[in-house]
Amino acid sequence: MKVGLLTGGGDCPGLNAVIRAVVQRVTNDGHTCVGILEGWRGLIRGFTRDLELNETDGIIAKGGTILGSSRTNPFKNQASDIPALLENFKSLGLDALVAIGGDDTLGVANRLFIEHGLPMVGVPKTIDNDLMVTDFTFGFDTAINIVTEAVDRIRTTTESHRRVMVIETMGRHAGWIACFSGIAVAADYILVPEIPININHVVQVLQRRRAEGKNYGIVVVSEGAEFPERGLTTLDAETDAFGHVRLGGVGNAVAKLVEDQTGYETRCVVLGHLQRGGPPSAYDRVLATRLGLAAGNLVVQQRFGTMVALSGTRIIETTLGKGVAATKTLDLTYYEEASTFFK
Ligand code: F6P
Repeated sequence: MKVGLLTGGGDCPGLNAVIRAVVQRVTNDGHTCVGILEGWRGLIRGFTRDLELNETDGIIAKGGTILGSSRTNPFKNQASDIPALLENFKSLGLDALVAIGGDDTLGVANRLFIEHGLPMVGVPKTIDNDLMVTDFTFGFDTAINIVTEAVDRIRTTTESHRRVMVIETMGRHAGWIACFSGIAVAADYILVPEIPININHVVQVLQRRRAEGKNYGIVVVSEGAEFPERGLTTLDAETDAFGHVRLGGVGNAVAKLVEDQTGYETRCVVLGHLQRGGPPSAYDRVLATRLGLAAGNLVVQQRFGTMVALSGTRIIETTLGKGVAATKTLDLTYYEEASTFFK
């Protein structure tokens, strides 16, 4: 078999570990691999590179993806892009394609499988941890560790200046990153998309903490957190090829309100793409490797239209359709536990 691999959507630490594992698994059975560059764009335009086993060893420690990525949606301009994609699939002589991505990339893989019969296997990835069926995605652990380390640094300057610091995290419409990192840094308040922002309560908690003797404050806010009266805070009105707005700015809005209502000097740090960069944590390397090996198994068994997922501690097989059915928002049990500290 000739097996194609592509990575689509926002990159995340651990993608290279998946690539290495898939290549190893299918090469063991005598098959060959080819890398499709820059997500679906590469398949539309025929951008590829060879993927030999000996090239993949050291990549486990590298962040990003050696294949490049993009947010290209071939179904957006399907009249021209889908025929080009199908033609390239054929001319490359692909017998299977492993698509490593989030709900958008896997959604495209699912449609290509259902509507065009292409032999697809999916591997879920995202720092946001917002994919159904899989309990945790690789990239998430690295991201929350980056936020934790950043806030540990931010804390010292915040305390020196007796300020409040509002830290805006990524995560899109799910509060996983904000909630987990907020717990890890003992934030004074955590704001997530699943619970409307109650600024009066944030202010109350910060004031109470001051009265109790804590002379600084840390607030972690997810980029998708919403003020009940204003909705989402976005960077611009444009949407990407999958219809997503660019979130951002809620941290500054929260900081301004906190400063106005408390009189405490308040700053905002937007951690942004820092959360997606650099080497994956050991946990993410292991999870990504296990998912890649399981995806390789599905390929050699020719079980297409499937994807791999983490269920508890086990790697399971599910369908692409189930994996992209809905967004997995934050399990509110975690938020309840977190909010014990800011009742
Ligand atoms: O989905 C991953 C993610 O990092 C989100 O948390 C964030 O909203 C978005 O991607 C940013 O996308 P881009 O890299 O296109 O700015």
